[in-house]
Amino acid sequence: MKILILHGPNLNLLGTREPEVYGRRTLDDINQLLSEIAVSKGLELRILQSNHEGALIDAIHAARQWADGIVINPGAFTHYSFALRDAVAAVELPTIEVHLSNVAAREEFRHKSVITAVCLGQISGFGWRSYPLALQALLDHLADD
Ligand code: DQA
Repeated sequence: MKILILHGPNLNLLGTREPEVYGRRTLDDINQLLSEIAVSKGLELRILQSNHEGALIDAIHAARQWADGIVINPGAFTHYSFALRDAVAAVELPTIEVHLSNVAAREEFRHKSVITAVCLGQISGFGWRSYPLALQALLDHLADD
């Protein structure tokens, strides 16, 4: 299995960014954990963080050529990026949306995701654990196919 892990804007600051909301683990910590899971399960992971909408869209398009599925934390793009949503819809790869924080319990503007409808589902609110949960959910889905 080949999986693309995408981290959107500001997630490079994890560890120091609002730690009471997002926790103290850095993005490197999370990527390291995901890489260890990948080794133990024989997966190929490619991981990208970008603060730029277009770079995330380009990575989603490129995934058509190689990936079996996508795990994406779109950051704030979650709430308004129709371009990101259209990219996920266009490539028709099974995709899981992930959030560290429980977006439904936060400010009103975070309650809406324009991405979830084109994903298998959303995992939100489990801190760094949201990522391994999302990866496992994607693998289970792919194993069902
Ligand atoms: C986030 C939630 C978003 O609302 C926010 O803009 C982020 C992080 C999360 O992982 O909890 O950047 O996606």
